[in-house]
Amino acid sequence: MGKDVIIALDFPSGEECFHFLDKFTRAERKPFVKVGMELFYAEGPEIVRELKRRGLPVFLDLKLHDIPNTVKGGMRSLSSLGVDMANVHAAGTKEMMRAAREGLIREDGTRPLLIAVTVLTSISEEKLKKEMLVDMPLGDAAAAFAKNACEAGLDGVVCSPLEAEKVHRECGKDFLTITPGIRFSEDGRDDQARVTTPARAKELGSDYIVVGRSITASKDPVAAYDRAVRDFVD
Ligand code: C5P
Repeated sequence: MGKDVIIALDFPSGEECFHFLDKFTRAERKPFVKVGMELFYAEGPEIVRELKRRGLPVFLDLKLHDIPNTVKGGMRSLSSLGVDMANVHAAGTKEMMRAAREGLIREDGTRPLLIAVTVLTSISEEKLKKEMLVDMPLGDAAAAFAKNACEAGLDGVVCSPLEAEKVHRECGKDFLTITPGIRFSEDGRDDQARVTTPARAKELGSDYIVVGRSITASKDPVAAYDRAVRDFVD
């Protein structure tokens, strides 16, 4: 798997999700898709099995965070679904991230990519200090979590395209940067504080862009997807 556009399937039901994906039968390539909590908790593991039956690469975005043994078991269950990418919170510690990685290894020795969430984009520096009791600048905390993730043998982090270069400098160019907060230049920002176009994310060195509403809420989602692929991958 190389550079790619990941569509965030933020739908409340499988029915809406497949109504959306049926439009893509005429797309030039099979889209890499992201299933988050909303869809997974509504539909259960069967949603992932169906996406895999349709031949789509799947990023299962459940952000696990628990004691190492529990996360290892959870990851074992997820890897048996055949997902291509999974994630954990780096705040769970290196021991937990290593356990997650072990849990993902299948009998044939393969495993999905394992990505860490550093500091959620919804957390401000004030909340980080007052409620999470982390007394350092947010950027430094995110960089420290990214470093822990690479030391624990993870494959990459979720971050802003604006941080991709820094992450690559500190963790190596093969350490993946999965970057949400993507909008076409004429789109609104919605609830994202900082947004980047697919072309700019490419210039900044992102490895994967995660695109939700700029594709899912578009009048022509396939055209929007093709445009993101053209701008970011080609
Ligand atoms: O619609 P939009 O393009 O803003 O969707 C972005 C997707 O990326 C959503 O599924 C959101 O949960 C996810 N995400 C994010 N910021 C993070 C981590 C994940 O926007 N830091």
